[in-house]
Amino acid sequence: MALDRRDPPNGRLALFPGSFDPLTNGHVDIVLRSAHLFERVLIAVLVNPEKRPLFSPDERVGIIRQVFREYPNVEVDTFAGLLVDYARTKRASAIVRGLRAVSDFEYEFQMALMNRHLEPTLETVFMMPAEQYTYLSSRLIKEVFSLGGDVRGLVPSAVEKAMHEKKGVKAH
Ligand code: PNS
Repeated sequence: MALDRRDPPNGRLALFPGSFDPLTNGHVDIVLRSAHLFERVLIAVLVNPEKRPLFSPDERVGIIRQVFREYPNVEVDTFAGLLVDYARTKRASAIVRGLRAVSDFEYEFQMALMNRHLEPTLETVFMMPAEQYTYLSSRLIKEVFSLGGDVRGLVPSAVEKAMHEKKGVKAH
């Protein structure tokens, strides 16, 4: 037998890792689909000291917790370092990633296979968001918003509010 699966992780926990700067409705869509498939979903916000994010990791965690406050099987945390190490400490059984278009595929395929190389028992599960979110990305949301564009309906209202507050703070 190539794979030993006799000691499955507890609780069928799925990790949904990412930058989430900010969380979009595409992310929300993937979380809700995952929460339907897995017993628990843990949204894991990457703490990346090299990047200059719009929202700090703690701000992102606060916003995401607010968005999913009515979903008891959705949790939020930060992580740093290797995703597979974090997954091991949490005894996660899967990593969930959203696939929007073919253009996502190459990067996601590389990451999934590298993670499998590092931790063969951890599966990556790809999920497609609803069609209306296939063009959404955090980068575009930030660009459109910073240039005065309307992001309503593209991000949760808590995110939109936090973006306006951030803009207000910056303007002073
Ligand atoms: O939302 P993003 O920025 O596309 O998410 C990328 C993320 C956080 C999933 C990826 O960068 C990651 O897992 N980083 C942690 C460091 C790591 O494990 N790198 C090797 C991945 S093969």
